Amino acid sequence: MNQKESLIKKFRDKTAQVAILGMGYVGLPLAVVFAEAGYHVTGIDPDARKADSLGRGISYIPDIPTERLAPLVKSGHLKATTDFSVLKDMDAVSICVPTPLRKTGDPDMSFILSATEQLAKYMHKGVAVVLESTTYPGTTREVLLPMLGEANGLKVGEDWFLAFSPERVDPGREDFTTLNTPKVVGGITAACSEVASAWYGGAILQIHMVSSAEAAEMAKLLENTFRMVNIGMVNELSIMCNRMGVDVWEVIDAAATKPFGFMKFTPGPGLGGHCIPIDPLYLSWKMKAYQYTARFIELASDINTNMPRYVVTRILEAMNERGHVLKGSRCLVLGVAYKPDIDDIRESPALDVIGLLQKKGVTVEYHDPYIPTLKTHEGAEMQSVPDLMSAVRAADIVVAVTNHKIYDYEAILEAAKFIFDSRNALGRLGKDNPKVERL
Ligand SMILES: NC(=O)c1ccc[n+]([C@@H]2O[C@H](COP(=O)([O-])OP(=O)(O)OC[C@H]3O[C@@H](n4cnc5c(N)ncnc54)[C@H](O)[C@@H]3O)[C@@H](O)[C@H]2O)c1
Repeated sequence: MNQKESLIKKFRDKTAQVAILGMGYVGLPLAVVFAEAGYHVTGIDPDARKADSLGRGISYIPDIPTERLAPLVKSGHLKATTDFSVLKDMDAVSICVPTPLRKTGDPDMSFILSATEQLAKYMHKGVAVVLESTTYPGTTREVLLPMLGEANGLKVGEDWFLAFSPERVDPGREDFTTLNTPKVVGGITAACSEVASAWYGGAILQIHMVSSAEAAEMAKLLENTFRMVNIGMVNELSIMCNRMGVDVWEVIDAAATKPFGFMKFTPGPGLGGHCIPIDPLYLSWKMKAYQYTARFIELASDINTNMPRYVVTRILEAMNERGHVLKGSRCLVLGVAYKPDIDDIRESPALDVIGLLQKKGVTVEYHDPYIPTLKTHEGAEMQSVPDLMSAVRAADIVVAVTNHKIYDYEAILEAAKFIFDSRNALGRLGKDNPKVERL
């Protein structure tokens, strides 16, 4: 049996030892799905608190309840460590480390590089490696292949196997999860695609194989660029509707009655999260090497990045119309997570809105049941107000930034002096209500 056949056999009979590098929002759900399918999984993360917590069977990711994790730890199917040397005994390694942007807006590849450097020390024949982190097209072939294979004298597609498979998890979502969201897999060679598909197909319901790692990398960027551009377009539409005195929410609902050729996107105070505001910029950065400007991405990014500033300008105008000054007023930001019903504040536009209001001399508080504390862009610690309704009553302005389902908007409207609703969180309650200004 050659390396490919023996590895595929190990995936089939579930004797493969699988490691996940990076046990965050992506790595942990993937580890759980692999372990539930019968693989023996070791999560490796330099964050000792994560490894410790997993060792005790306690989850720190809301999508994975502790009741689901604990039995896998107890049965020995899922372990966690900070020790990278366990990689020497692994048959398969998924890399799920962060890919943020540098302050300059360029890709920060440091996590991929450090994880790959660690893995390179323990490379051996008969191992499959899949990169899951979202990144620019070409990363798997240009960065991982030389560091892991060529430097170790191993021939890819024969001695070892390398592929890209983008993670598509949507935190907080229950209908589509890591298990039942089709998984795109693209290998460096056809044998790499085959091996990676056998591995992932042993745990995930549907695999969609593409002809190269680059096609898989680009597919992920298409998905996220599609969202970013459409959100940018609808954000601009909200600015245009406001100029013309047209209700953008009514317009969107009307367009959404078309049963074909239209997909509903809604405006808001700006993009948030680890993916949509960032990933397309990996593509526009890469395209510079091809002397090409990714115009849709740059335009959408520009519009989306300016939305928090637009929201604050609209609040200022609305206060002015009501005969109030912004400076010296009290504001309660309602919801700071980057999207509803989750506990993730990464890249949240709430942080920009808070910072901009503070710069205008506003005293800002926030409430979010999922985010007990936050650090502002200026580095100050804030705590979610303990009593929502008294904070609503005390505020001159309530800004609805994240439309969490658990809020009783009727009660909030009743108690508030003025609400700026950047998400149409109040729905019909806010329409034509003199206390409410909608984006
Ligand atoms: N969160 C999402 O919704 C989502 C969805 C799709 C794709 N992605 C992509 O998946 C990747 C991971 O995102 P995430 O949300 O899971 O990030 P995360 O920050 O939640 O988790 C990443 C983990 O990697 C660990 N880590 C850092 N350096 C490491 C190293 N050298 N070796 C091993 N572990 C290391 C960190 O300690 C952290 O626990 C990113 O590229 C992201 O763009 C995320």
